[in-house]
Amino acid sequence: MNNILKKLLRFAKPYKLYGILNIISNVLYAFFNVLSIIIFIPTLGILFDNQEEVFEKPVYQGFSNLKGYAEDSLNYFLTQKVADDGPMAALVFICLASIVIFFLKNLFRYMAMYFLAFLRTGMVKDIQDSLYHKVVDLPISFFSEKRKGDLLARMTSDVKEVESSIINSLEALVREPITIVIVLISMLLISAKLTLFVFIFLPITGFIISAVGKRLKAQSLAAQKENGVFLSFLEETLTGLKVIKGFNAEGKLAKKFTDSTERFKNIMNSVLQRKGLASPLSEFLGVAVVITVLWYGGSLVFDENSGLKPQDFMGYIGLFYTIINPVKAITTVNYSIKKGNAAGERIFEILETENSIKEPVNPTEIKKFDMGIDFKNVSFGYENENVLEGFNLKVNKGHTVALVGQSGSGKSTVANLVTRFYDVNEGSIEIDDINIKDISKKSLRGLMGLVTQDSILFNDSVKNNIGLGKTNATEEEIVEAAKIANAHDFIMELPEGYNTNIGDGGNKLSGGQKQRLSIARAVLKNPPIMILDEATSALDTESERLVQDALEKMMRNRTSIVIAHRLSTIQNADSIVVMSKGKILEQGTHQELMKSKKGYKKLVEMQTMA
Ligand SMILES: Nc1ncnc2c1ncn2[C@@H]1O[C@H](COP(=O)(O)OP(=O)(O)OP(=O)(O)O)[C@@H](O)[C@H]1O
Ligand SMILES: [Mg+2]
Repeated sequence: MNNILKKLLRFAKPYKLYGILNIISNVLYAFFNVLSIIIFIPTLGILFDNQEEVFEKPVYQGFSNLKGYAEDSLNYFLTQKVADDGPMAALVFICLASIVIFFLKNLFRYMAMYFLAFLRTGMVKDIQDSLYHKVVDLPISFFSEKRKGDLLARMTSDVKEVESSIINSLEALVREPITIVIVLISMLLISAKLTLFVFIFLPITGFIISAVGKRLKAQSLAAQKENGVFLSFLEETLTGLKVIKGFNAEGKLAKKFTDSTERFKNIMNSVLQRKGLASPLSEFLGVAVVITVLWYGGSLVFDENSGLKPQDFMGYIGLFYTIINPVKAITTVNYSIKKGNAAGERIFEILETENSIKEPVNPTEIKKFDMGIDFKNVSFGYENENVLEGFNLKVNKGHTVALVGQSGSGKSTVANLVTRFYDVNEGSIEIDDINIKDISKKSLRGLMGLVTQDSILFNDSVKNNIGLGKTNATEEEIVEAAKIANAHDFIMELPEGYNTNIGDGGNKLSGGQKQRLSIARAVLKNPPIMILDEATSALDTESERLVQDALEKMMRNRTSIVIAHRLSTIQNADSIVVMSKGKILEQGTHQELMKSKKGYKKLVEMQTMA
């Protein structure tokens, strides 16, 4: 068994019971399936008045003679019935028995499906859930490299593919072999000679069919990949719609899109055509074998010495016909598994990605914050080049430290490191003298409130957006937080107040309103440390004043790292750090830095001139 299947079986484990019930139902189904054909043999015998008559009650002589005993018993019973009530009564009896057998066969078929449904849906849910948990757990860096649409494709269509191909195949691999074994035994009992003859043909047929499936896996993988490209592109288009329209870039993007759908079309043509070849090919080969059997079996019937009666032979052909579908299913399982394997590989690639931001082995749970944050000789680069180098900074408890400096100097990077979205390459960051790599991620992030440079909001109500970081936040607490963030007034003017849905990414709100909501969210969490990456530069003076005021209220009595673009906003900070190309250029209070006439003074002058 291959690796991917093994891993998938792990997901089936909790639903083992349903699997077992499915197997039991399938065994019974296969049994009644065979019986439903065998029962016709004596019927035919009666119709053609060819039935062997048995007048003495047969005696059971052990397992080896089971067939003869069963046959004789049935014949004895029928002979009696014909003798007592006439052949019509015997026929009615056989018909009733067949109805019951057919009913049971189909009942068990239904039950097998019924139980399998729980296994299927349970497995799909568990795979999707673990993918979701994994995606949420993976570090931010993972997503700068991966395309979102590709992830979506893996979580939806790849899971669907695994469901339809692998789970169906697992069933086929259980049910069909059972049917085949039972049918083969019955066939052997009817005529060993004929069955040996059949045995020569079946493997040849199977071999031809499976040869067709060889290339299918590679093609399916290509198809799923293209599907990812396609979804990524769609996702980007939807988020960038404003820019696309504004730049009249519809044509350019449509071209990229249709190129992708064209490639997908070509791959799928080939996949579907190859797959489509499976059924016709196996049916044709199957019929060829049946006809050969018909010819050989017919000659045995004509041969008086062979002992093969016409009704036996007809039953035999019936049995043989029931074996064709299972054999066909088993050979097509090969394609399905190959297709499913490709999808499974893509799923496990995500599930098995190692989280580079490791949870410590013996994590320290840190509940409160007493002394300060300490950056010790930190060097860090997103890729090869270092973005921060030899960065040293102490932020004492209760202080506000502002980071300023030109765009790209590494300010947001500092925020990314202290929250452990990324890990430092060299040096360390310590909170109360504990390396943050030794603190559990949950308790570390529990200490911090985060307002990011671009407000990240969810397609949900105002209330739920503010309440994100606090479970069971009361209505009053939410309103209180919104008031501190200067958001209450505008929220009250929204059509449904706190229950208003703010649209995708908060697009129904203005830039300043979005920011005030993200500030309210951080205020409600009420953490001892605040990390603010402000983007006030995008705001008009009125909303800037509101946001600024909100930030000041929030930072009161807290330890804050503020990344500021408007220098007027951080004049009261305890310490201002001027950054340039990942290094600290100078550090001090506003007054001190204005005297030093280095970078800070220049920055201030530039902003006042503008
Ligand atoms: N995810 C990333 N992958 C690779 N490089 C990155 C990534 N994020 C930022 N960088 C690079 O790191 C450097 C510092 O970026 P950072 O976001 O810290 O700048 P910043 O000081 O916050 O700038 P701004 O004032 O414009 O927000 C930049 O040169 C940027 O190109
Ligand atoms: Mg930034």
